[in-house]
Amino acid sequence: MTTAIIGTGGIGSAIARQLASGGETLRLSSTDHESAQKLAARIAPAAVVATDNHDAVRGADAVILALRFTVLKGVIEQIADSLAGTVVVVPSNPLTTDAQGNVSRVLPEGQSSGEVVAGWLPAGARLAMAFGTMSADLLESASNRSPEPAVLFYATGNDRAGEEVARLIRTAGFEPVKVGGIEQSGRLEVGGDLHDLVVGPAEARSLVGRA
Ligand SMILES: NC(=O)c1ccc[n+]([C@@H]2O[C@H](COP(=O)([O-])OP(=O)(O)OC[C@H]3O[C@@H](n4cnc5c(N)ncnc54)[C@H](OP(=O)(O)O)[C@@H]3O)[C@@H](O)[C@H]2O)c1
Repeated sequence: MTTAIIGTGGIGSAIARQLASGGETLRLSSTDHESAQKLAARIAPAAVVATDNHDAVRGADAVILALRFTVLKGVIEQIADSLAGTVVVVPSNPLTTDAQGNVSRVLPEGQSSGEVVAGWLPAGARLAMAFGTMSADLLESASNRSPEPAVLFYATGNDRAGEEVARLIRTAGFEPVKVGGIEQSGRLEVGGDLHDLVVGPAEARSLVGRA
């Protein structure tokens, strides 16, 4: 199966390495073309570098938008005509960093990133929020854990997106656990009760049910 990854910074690169090691074919795109090329060379022959964001999505079964929250809307608008029927996976946390390095939330309390991203997507796109609950380092160190796999949580209201993101999570070396519909995605974000956790399936299901 083929997945497009747009954005090859910290989290996009980590997701790409995990998916490639699980056998996924990747189409990479980034404004930082050099980082995309270095990444593709490192995981060759699993990945190709697309000419641009549009080209990355061409023929892909799913697209992962591994982008800072503040650029997401613009990229979605740019590739909107390619997203109808496509599974769109978003790991972004609704944060921004100022020139002094101070991090702040860009959405009002109580408004989840998933609900906002869903409003930016064209009709027919199938959204799942996933792969943003762990730091890039943790994502790589916790994958393919044995004997009990670690869990990656996801949120979606779309069955097809749920099947596809669960497949991607397994390919990356984790057990998928659904937290609920997109309106539950706040639980996955920085500050959410399911963020930054490395837990097995039984504990994960108990945590999901506790809210
Ligand atoms: N890093 C983590 O450990 C981590 C963990 C969990 C979740 N997240 C979330 O994931 C999101 C991305 O974080 P990150 O740390 O990976 O950020 P990052 O290192 O800045 O990576 C973002 C990448 O997107 C590229 N980009 C920017 N605008 C683009 C555009 N219009 N088209 C294509 N590519 C574009 C950037 O290129 P340029 O460098 O040229 O701008 C960069 O390669 C954030 O919302 C963050 O909260 C990150």
